[in-house]
Amino acid sequence: MTDTATPSTTAWWRHAAIYQIYVRSFADADGDGTGDLAGVRDRLPYLSQLGVDALWFTPWYTSPMADGGYDVADYRDIDPRFGTLAEAEALIAEAHTHGLRVLVDLVPNHCSDQHPWFRQALADGPGSPLRDRFWFVPGRGANGELPPNDWQSYFGGAAWTRVTEPDGTPGPWYLHMFAPEQPDLNWEHRDVRAEFEDILHFWLRKGVDGFRIDVAHGLAKKPGLPDVGPDPDLTDLPYQDCDDVHEIYREWRKILDSYDGERTFVGEVWLPTPDQFARYLRPDELHSAFNFEFLCCAWDAGALRDVIKGTLAAHLPVGAPPTWVLSNHDTIRHVTRYGREDTSFEMGDKRLSDPSDPVLGRRRARAAALLTMALPGGVYVYQGDELGLPEVQDIPDALIQDPTFARSLGTDRGRDGCRVPLPWTGATASLGFSPDGASAAPWLPQPADWAAMSVEAQLDDPESVLTLYREALALRRARLVGLPETLALADAGADTVCFDRPGGFRCLVNIGAEAVTVPAGAHVLLSSGPLARDADGLRVPADTCVWLDMNGTSGARR
Ligand code: NOJ
Repeated sequence: MTDTATPSTTAWWRHAAIYQIYVRSFADADGDGTGDLAGVRDRLPYLSQLGVDALWFTPWYTSPMADGGYDVADYRDIDPRFGTLAEAEALIAEAHTHGLRVLVDLVPNHCSDQHPWFRQALADGPGSPLRDRFWFVPGRGANGELPPNDWQSYFGGAAWTRVTEPDGTPGPWYLHMFAPEQPDLNWEHRDVRAEFEDILHFWLRKGVDGFRIDVAHGLAKKPGLPDVGPDPDLTDLPYQDCDDVHEIYREWRKILDSYDGERTFVGEVWLPTPDQFARYLRPDELHSAFNFEFLCCAWDAGALRDVIKGTLAAHLPVGAPPTWVLSNHDTIRHVTRYGREDTSFEMGDKRLSDPSDPVLGRRRARAAALLTMALPGGVYVYQGDELGLPEVQDIPDALIQDPTFARSLGTDRGRDGCRVPLPWTGATASLGFSPDGASAAPWLPQPADWAAMSVEAQLDDPESVLTLYREALALRRARLVGLPETLALADAGADTVCFDRPGGFRCLVNIGAEAVTVPAGAHVLLSSGPLARDADGLRVPADTCVWLDMNGTSGARR
């Protein structure tokens, strides 16, 4: 696992710790129960002291919020619930003064059904050339009453909705791989390409440092939109990973590279094989992509070692840095996942009724955080990870807002459980999410016991998850950032994940029940939980990660 290929650049994005802000749940400054840009701005000192390098904002654009902002009605303006364009500009500039870079979320696969392009295409009626910017296709069946093909929406149900023409007659169908309020754009159309190139320039000129690309594998569709069929080859679906998508990113990369300051793309690329995934990371395409294989991996030493090895092997040939992600706004919070018997994750099956042991989950989550931060490449922190927040599993049906709940006819309770507004203090009704005297309650209810997990409750507690994150991010910056992106696996037993980074740094995670001995002469830099001592020396208990200096340099704590 040691390799000789050192990266050609030490650019910041190769090793960044990036904090994901789900804007509507981060902090609410104006008291309407929804987070906003002013709320983020107030908390920039918190984020800078946390020790992250960059912020990724989930979509902040004008949106009817049919899918939490991933249904964009205006890519060049801010949703009024979140603030104004001027506030976004001020936020970008102020983040920079705190040493924090800013990534914005680009949503190119689809827009909102309230986007002027779609509204006009509908209003203009049959034969309008504006419909060619989308996928308007006649239905099958004698009267066009059946969808044009068998594609299913990722949110459940058919991926097609039939249009009612301005004169009231039923018309063709339009494609939406997600909710009906999110019509897919036709990337074969030059207007679509030109529009998104202009949007890139728009935000680059506003000073953003990069983009997270939503559904990066999905923009191009197979010509003729063929049926998937009853037994599809998952590596060759007609609506994802079609070859033309790469040409789009090559064009975008030229645009990005024409700006100074190491701007970057990170792709949301969900694909079944590492080879497919790596093609997005070729030197003239995206810089990095989220490592969902790691996110989905069970808390199992062998499985984790395999994913780590596979990740490095997939990235090495294309020279891209790996990334390490434990949770995001679409998945289940890993404290809850790791507290279950089955600790793996699969999109679309959150198994919210599975019992989860919060103490076990939090212990493993602490160890996992240190593991991700020790690995070469970039690391993501989803807001609330640093507080050890669990998934909220009991949001009443009537309050669930995620469209997957309704689209799946209630079989998938959706993603709201990982999107509950953050607790900042213990004292107020909204746990400090909204100001005192707010006009509305938080848009999703917060569990009462989150008061004990608030930022305020954790900030000065040396044993808190927040303190662990702050210490680990600082140590990572001091010891690991800028090192060659290599690691050497070490053998510390079948139930461990253990590896060395250059400079005598070792990361050891014990996933088995038996405690593991810290090698003699090693200094403990940081550990995710208490260590024991016996006649053999220091012992790392189950579900604990320890960072060691094998050269014996002190700096020891805990
Ligand atoms: C991925 C985003 O992360 C998710 O939240 C969204 O629903 C879909 N893409 C559709 O935009």
